[in-house]
Amino acid sequence: MNALAATNRNFRHASRILGLDSKLEKSLLIPFREIKVECTIPKDDGTLVSYVGFRVQHDNSRGPMKGGIRYHPEVDPDEVNALAQLMTWKTAVADIPYGGAKGGIGCSPRDLSKSELERLTRVFTQKIHDLIGIHTDVPAPDMGTNSQTMAWILDEYSKFHGHSPAVVTGKPIDLGGSLGREAATGRGVVFATEALLAEHGQSIAGLKFVIQGFGNVGSWAAKLIHERGGKVVAVSDITGAIKNPNGIDISALLTHKENTGSLKDFHGGDAMDANELLVHDCDVLIPCALGGVLNKDNAADVRAKYIIEAANHPTDPEADEILSKKGIIILPDIYANAGGVTVSYFEWVQNIQGFMWDEEKVNTQLQRYMTRAFTNIKAMCQSHDCNLRMGAFTLGVNRVARATLLRGWEA
Ligand SMILES: NC(=O)c1ccc[n+]([C@@H]2O[C@H](COP(=O)([O-])OP(=O)(O)OC[C@H]3O[C@@H](n4cnc5c(N)ncnc54)[C@H](O)[C@@H]3O)[C@@H](O)[C@H]2O)c1
Repeated sequence: MNALAATNRNFRHASRILGLDSKLEKSLLIPFREIKVECTIPKDDGTLVSYVGFRVQHDNSRGPMKGGIRYHPEVDPDEVNALAQLMTWKTAVADIPYGGAKGGIGCSPRDLSKSELERLTRVFTQKIHDLIGIHTDVPAPDMGTNSQTMAWILDEYSKFHGHSPAVVTGKPIDLGGSLGREAATGRGVVFATEALLAEHGQSIAGLKFVIQGFGNVGSWAAKLIHERGGKVVAVSDITGAIKNPNGIDISALLTHKENTGSLKDFHGGDAMDANELLVHDCDVLIPCALGGVLNKDNAADVRAKYIIEAANHPTDPEADEILSKKGIIILPDIYANAGGVTVSYFEWVQNIQGFMWDEEKVNTQLQRYMTRAFTNIKAMCQSHDCNLRMGAFTLGVNRVARATLLRGWEA
């Protein structure tokens, strides 16, 4: 099942639980605006090339739309649509005053030079500048884009609208980025995990963790879990997988990865089959890489007691059912990885205030937002007798539905 079908299914299930009016349900699924633009640039060798750029703005009933821009050869409008919709529910779950959006350009960023990427980003910004904005739609980095991409968008946008740091988040600190933003998604994952474990009378210290993906989210989550006394017994990335039943020394692994660019040949653990990682013995499994990695082929063999969905959409609906029947507790993506967009919100607030927070304030507020959202999700689980995924979906969808009704939508 593709990401859009799975997202729509979860939305419809939540809508039924909430007893939403069928017309309102239909209207909440339809995106506010879908933008498609051709971005033509000269390559460094003088030839002309054109890429298709998308921005799907899903819903703005609770505030400006918010979501990443990804550069990837397989950027597909259906997936961008699903991710824009997920952002609407995610910002509502975190209770930050935003709607949802997502965008992308169908290109292979690794095959483009820095100057080609800059030209492409500037042309894309020229084409959409009057449809994004501080109080309209605030992009952020996603796969294949980074703080430099945001700096180019900020600069290009500011040529049309004057200096506007709050038009993007995930910027370099020197241009108004927030302290703590880089670690925010991984840190939020850890706060979410702590909230879930506390509910079950447990804590990170002494538990065994398996982490798939050792990029931004996975490496920060691993580092913070290690610092809290959790045993990270297996880690993987695109270069391979390693295990150590006594717990991997994460600081040493980070140094190894920095020096070699790979997890291979790390002396503090043994190499393992990357496919075995997801079914490795542990208490907590944290997928931090791709979507759809837990599916009907491997779900029955998963041995974790808890799954924390740090990646977007790592569990497909068939796996969801199998895992739930096994009694495995899943903390859903629209809550578990909301730390990134929450600190993006803090960045936007700081830009609008013109006042920079220290890192301690960012982290303290992030913990407050993540803990509060967990309490709110649990309350929905109790009142609707549903699992955590439906608790999160009903929480998010209900907030957006209420805002839509209050604004009046039928006139
Ligand atoms: N960065 C954020 O703020 C953020 C926020 C919300 C959600 N997410 C989601 O979290 C996930 C990870 O994002 P990120 O920012 O850390 O990306 P990233 O590019 O920094 O890291 C991705 C990691 O996954 C690994 N990987 C890729 N293919 C793999 C495979 N087949 N097996 C094992 N590992 C593999 C890569 O080697 C890398 O270590 C994505 O699903 C993303 O959508 C990220």
